[in-house]
Amino acid sequence: MIREFFRYLFFRCSSDARRLGYLYELIAFEARIERLEKFWVPHFEKCRNFISEGIKHVAGAKRNVVVLGAGTCLEIPLEKLVESFEEVWLVDMLFSEKIRKTFSIFKNLHFVETDVLAGWHKNSERLFKDFTNGNVRDYTHYMPDTKDFWQKLPCEIDLLVSANMLSQLSLFPEEFLLKKHHHGKAKSWEETVNQFSSQLFRLHLTDLFKASKVLIIISDIKKCIFKKNNTVEQVQLYPEMVFNSNDFEQAFLTDEWNWNFAPSPEISLNESHVHKVKAGLWKI
Ligand SMILES: C[S@@+](CC[C@H](N)C(=O)[O-])C[C@H]1O[C@@H](n2cnc3c(N)ncnc32)[C@H](O)[C@@H]1O
Repeated sequence: MIREFFRYLFFRCSSDARRLGYLYELIAFEARIERLEKFWVPHFEKCRNFISEGIKHVAGAKRNVVVLGAGTCLEIPLEKLVESFEEVWLVDMLFSEKIRKTFSIFKNLHFVETDVLAGWHKNSERLFKDFTNGNVRDYTHYMPDTKDFWQKLPCEIDLLVSANMLSQLSLFPEEFLLKKHHHGKAKSWEETVNQFSSQLFRLHLTDLFKASKVLIIISDIKKCIFKKNNTVEQVQLYPEMVFNSNDFEQAFLTDEWNWNFAPSPEISLNESHVHKVKAGLWKI
C-alpha cells in the first residue's frame, strides 16, 4: 500500500492521466498482476497468441502496427510485432518508466501517450453545464473530434489492435460525470451520463473500423461472479451492452476464453470474479 502510494506520488504522466483516474487504475492493475500472476498468465498467453496469429492475416506491406490500450504490454507479443512491422506504435493514456526502459532496445517502437477519445473530459464539462441549465442538446454535439487523436498516428496502419481497452473506455467518463451530483435530478442525470458514455463508445468503435484494413479487438465483455452459495451473477460490461454480438459473428477470426480475474479472496471471501473475454479479427 505504502509502495503504491509513493509510486502514485512520483509517477511521471500527464495531469489528465492523474486527475481523471487512469494513473490510479494503472497502479492498481500492476499490483493485481503481482498478486495474481499465476491466474492471469493463461489470459496473457491467449491475447498474445491471438495477436500473433493476426499478423499472418496482414497481406502486403507491414509498415505500421498500432496497439491501443497497450498499458503494461503483457497482453501483447511485442517481439513478434517489432520483427514483423517496420514501425510499432503503442498508445495509452500513460506508460510507466519501467515499460519504456525495458522496451527501449527496440528502435522501431514508439510510445504515444494520449487519449484515444481526444480529450473527452472537456466535452463532459459542457454536457454537465448544459444539463445544469436544462439545455442538453443532441449527444453528437458533445462528441470529441477524434481526428485530433488519429493525426498523431501514421495514416497507413496495416494492423490495428485494440488491446483489452474497450471495457474501460467509457467507464472513466462515466465515473467522472457521476461524481458531479445533481440534486433532485439524479435519475435523469444518470440516464444522460449513460447515453453520453455509450455514444463515446460507439464513436470509438466507428473509428476503429475505419482506421485499418485489418483490425483486432480483444475485450472482456462480461463479468461472472461465482458466489460461495453456488449461485452465479452475470454482469454485462460496456462492450457487451453496446457492441452487438453480431459484430463478432462477422469477424474473420474469433476466439473467446475465461480470464480468472479475481479469485477469492481478492475482492471478497465469498466471491470469485471471472471475466469472459472475446477476441475478433476483421478484414475490412
Ligand atoms: C486493461 S488495460 C489494458 C492492458 C494492456 N493491454 C496490457 O497488455 O497490459 C486498459 C488500458 O486502456 C487504457 N485506456 C483506457 N481508456 C483510454 C483512453 N481514453 N485513451 C487511452 N488509453 C486508455 C488504460 O490506461 C489501460 O492501460
